[in-house]
Amino acid sequence: MNQNSLKKAVSQAAIDFIKTNSVIGIGTGSTIGYLINALGSIKHQIKGVVSSSKQSTKKLRKIGINILDLNEIDYLPIYIDSADEIDSQMCMIKGGGAALTHEKIIASVADKFICIIDISKKVKTLGTFPLPIEVIPIARNFVTYELEKIGGIAKYRQNVITENGNIILDIHNLLISNPILLEQYINSIPGVVTVGIFASRRADILLVGNYNGIDIIVK
Ligand code: A5P
Repeated sequence: MNQNSLKKAVSQAAIDFIKTNSVIGIGTGSTIGYLINALGSIKHQIKGVVSSSKQSTKKLRKIGINILDLNEIDYLPIYIDSADEIDSQMCMIKGGGAALTHEKIIASVADKFICIIDISKKVKTLGTFPLPIEVIPIARNFVTYELEKIGGIAKYRQNVITENGNIILDIHNLLISNPILLEQYINSIPGVVTVGIFASRRADILLVGNYNGIDIIVK
């Protein structure tokens, strides 16, 4: 079994958490690509999907799944997404695919956040994966200097403009011992739209694809 087989297996396992005739929120990325394929088999049993990116929307439309606007719905029971890293407290780094702002909004609306990962994403301390931050373009240098003050090295993600017209800075060299505090601090820097730490809104249920099967961890 390779990493892609684990992503596929864990995506399949997530299908059991979807209630008939409900709306679901979904994230972005390669793991979610497998989830979308798996959704194809139950597409007549779901009301629709709130999608976090054009990439996911395109795949969902292709298999005939109804796309709903977040502002049109009044209850979202679950949001399913992957992560770039997750710790034992269910705090995550997300944004490798640059869709972090929409992901954080939809995840915050949802009653339950179900995170699906292959085992490689589980970490003791967040921060080995460079922390993505969506930034308003004019604030690029300012945010870079502010992050230097706390030991971060910001690298501008070349040729990436988010769906909101902003840029992404990837922050290296941060060992995140207190995800809640760091999330609040970085979000308070003028020009930051969203930091890719998901600690205030962390996962409620974690499904981990490993080489012996699927582990289910509930917060
Ligand atoms: C997208 O912006 C990210 O938050 C993804 O959810 C995360 O990067 C995981 O992606 P993969 O499934 O491709 O590893």
